[in-house]
Amino acid sequence: MARFNTANSWGSLARAFHWVMLGMIVIQIPLGFWMVEVYEAYTETWGDDTWVMRTSNAHHTIGFLVLGLVCLRLAWRAVNTTPDLPATLSRPQRWLARATHAFLYVLLFVYPLTGWASLSAYEGEFPIFFFGFDSMPRLVPQVAEDATFNYEFFAIIHRYCWRVGAVLLAAHAGAALWHHYVAKDGVLRRMMHGQ
Ligand code: HEM
Ligand code: HEM
Repeated sequence: MARFNTANSWGSLARAFHWVMLGMIVIQIPLGFWMVEVYEAYTETWGDDTWVMRTSNAHHTIGFLVLGLVCLRLAWRAVNTTPDLPATLSRPQRWLARATHAFLYVLLFVYPLTGWASLSAYEGEFPIFFFGFDSMPRLVPQVAEDATFNYEFFAIIHRYCWRVGAVLLAAHAGAALWHHYVAKDGVLRRMMHGQ
């Protein structure tokens, strides 16, 4: 069935996971920066917090969806064949491809988990949203501002993620284009259209 992967191509479900999650990340990163800007503007007046709540609701919700989807994606990967890399690739190339993919998966967990953990540890009260519901459970205990695993501890990791992600993504997308235009081995095509 086209939904399943084969030894040399990605099925429709694996491809949908890949491209839908890319779309979510493309929205989520600028949304994160915008949310921070809105919050900073709000702290100058402590006036109307409508947009702080709106942007936070959207950012947290998309982040939780990414976390859920990466779990489903890996579960789907585990119960399916994984397409082989082209036989023409050298051992270091294979190793590099696998390492990049593994780090990208790690990032898809670390990003939402550190965001969630930072708000959980926050000494004050700030809602953790999911589709408008504003009391998602804490991932880690709430602690005093001077504790080690405080808001800032997790927020620093969260803020660094996009830099690491940008390097990985440049390597990953660059490799995809190299496969398409130089090696011409169908690796990009099989992630875009299947066979
Ligand atoms: C794939 C998931 C996520 C991505 C890609 C992402 C991305 C970002 C980005 C780019 C920023 C701005 C960072 C900066 O100002 O340097 C940000 C900030 C933030 N995000 Fe996320 N985020 C994700 C998930 C989450 C989740 C699930 C939560 C909470 C439930 C969350 C909470 C926060 C908070 C509290 C900040 C402000 C951090 C600060 O103090 O600067 N994020 N996020
Ligand atoms: C947020 C951005 C992205 C993330 C997190 C991501 C993540 C991943 C991961 C984890 C894999 C490995 C799949 C597996 O073995 O289970 C993969 C495969 C792939 N990605 Fe991405 N990707 C992103 C963006 C892109 C972009 C922009 C392109 C194209 C320019 C691309 C092209 C590919 C291709 C062609 C494969 C298949 C490799 C193969 O068939 O062995 N990805 N991606």
